[in-house]
Amino acid sequence: MKDAWADVEKAETQPLTALFKSEPGRLARLGIEEAGIRFDFSKTHLSDGLLSAFERLAEQRDLAGARDALFSGKQVNVTEGRAAEHSAERGQGAPESVARARGFHARMRALIDAIEAEAFGPIRHILHIGIGGSALGPDFLIDALGRDSDRYETAVVSNVDGAALEEAIGRFDPMTTLLVIASKTFTTSETMLNAQSALLWMEQGGVADPYGRVIALTASPDQAIEFGIDETRILPFAETVGGRYSLWSSIGFPVALALGWQAFEELLEGAATMDRHFRLAPLTDNAPVLAAFVDRYYANIRAAQTRAVFAYDERLRLLPSYLQQLEMESNGKSVTVDGEPVGRATSPIVWGGVGTDAQHAVFQLLHQGTHLVPVEFIAAIEPEHDLAFDHHRQLLINCFAQGAALMAGKEADDPARSYPGDRPSTTILLDRVDPATLGALIAFYEHRVFVNAVLLGINPFDQFGVELGKQIAKAIDGDDGFDFDPSTKALIERALGAAN
Ligand code: F6P
Repeated sequence: MKDAWADVEKAETQPLTALFKSEPGRLARLGIEEAGIRFDFSKTHLSDGLLSAFERLAEQRDLAGARDALFSGKQVNVTEGRAAEHSAERGQGAPESVARARGFHARMRALIDAIEAEAFGPIRHILHIGIGGSALGPDFLIDALGRDSDRYETAVVSNVDGAALEEAIGRFDPMTTLLVIASKTFTTSETMLNAQSALLWMEQGGVADPYGRVIALTASPDQAIEFGIDETRILPFAETVGGRYSLWSSIGFPVALALGWQAFEELLEGAATMDRHFRLAPLTDNAPVLAAFVDRYYANIRAAQTRAVFAYDERLRLLPSYLQQLEMESNGKSVTVDGEPVGRATSPIVWGGVGTDAQHAVFQLLHQGTHLVPVEFIAAIEPEHDLAFDHHRQLLINCFAQGAALMAGKEADDPARSYPGDRPSTTILLDRVDPATLGALIAFYEHRVFVNAVLLGINPFDQFGVELGKQIAKAIDGDDGFDFDPSTKALIERALGAAN
């Protein structure tokens, strides 16, 4: 059978401004409204021809079958022989997995009720320790949605650099702090060391039973028990929920505590709305699918090595970091599910920042540089602050102006003052920044990653690439006679001493 990628490679498209003229229905066709979000893909080079070619590719790769396998709890994570059941956390999955997730959520809720009833004494501060998927989601959501909340003061500490923990505990009173240790494996070295230091800080601060003030969030309860945490304060989640997809599980505990249980439920329901959209909408009317077609076009046909994400909203300032893990840890792969070289570019390098700051820092390159960088703008119609609406108006005006300028370009007699234009962007416009909308937005990104992986034939759910560095760090730490290269040896000797 002919590889449908050949059709994608051959499909015709035109400059963006020409596409708007030759395809009159374009704005409607490439605009999708779902869960309080408008996705506008019309300023990309996705032509009618390209869209049909990608549809054929999706069919050949059996995207519909892969999607069913994902939602029905089949072993889609083939290299690790397990399912990927993050959607079951929001009620969309195999009935037994959904029931298990509900049970775990009920445990979470009961513990939150107990904390609120002061079963642990008065709690004012939440010190959440975790890294990667055990930190980025809670950090993003609490920063985005907890700005007005005076329920608890929260710190998410991930880096093993002591400066990170010191900064957080410097603001907190150990007597009124709840220590949350989040780790799927409960073996991650950075998290374990930070947790030990936080416990010591509590002990030295006069807490009689520091371990009694710890909540563990993990898929490895045995490890947490071995660490010294009582079973009643361990909130488990399923092994089949991947670390970077775990926000919906008990890893979301600090979100539910800081924002309230109702907000957490709304977050799950928003994500479930996107799950249903992804499962049921036709491919060409499906936001994660169209987004993945756009990703593949620029990465594979136009050789774009990066994608930039700019949040035109302070509340969403941590979104780019969240997406970096989700996308690059998932799809930064070189082999297919069958272990063959993948033969084409996989995940782009995802980077970004906040608008309007980024306009005064990196946008020069986007408008006139030599790299093609597909840009994603994310903004919300409703502001949260109490200052004059003109702030928000200016923010949105700037966001929309950048997309228009990238596309239109401008000729001038002076080459230094010319803008080539025809530079693509996607705009994601939220009605508002609330738990349901952010739930839907994050689920959109999860499914987009999945569709990209299916089109490429790779497994988005393992992450063996992070292991070698961990092994070498262990070898250096243990001074176990591993024969390091001269450069590494010299660095170790200079900074840590010959015998480290
Ligand atoms: O090293 C990568 C990684 O395994 C991520 O996939 C994960 O989110 C992070 O480390 C933290 O792992 P854990 O939750 O097991 O501490």
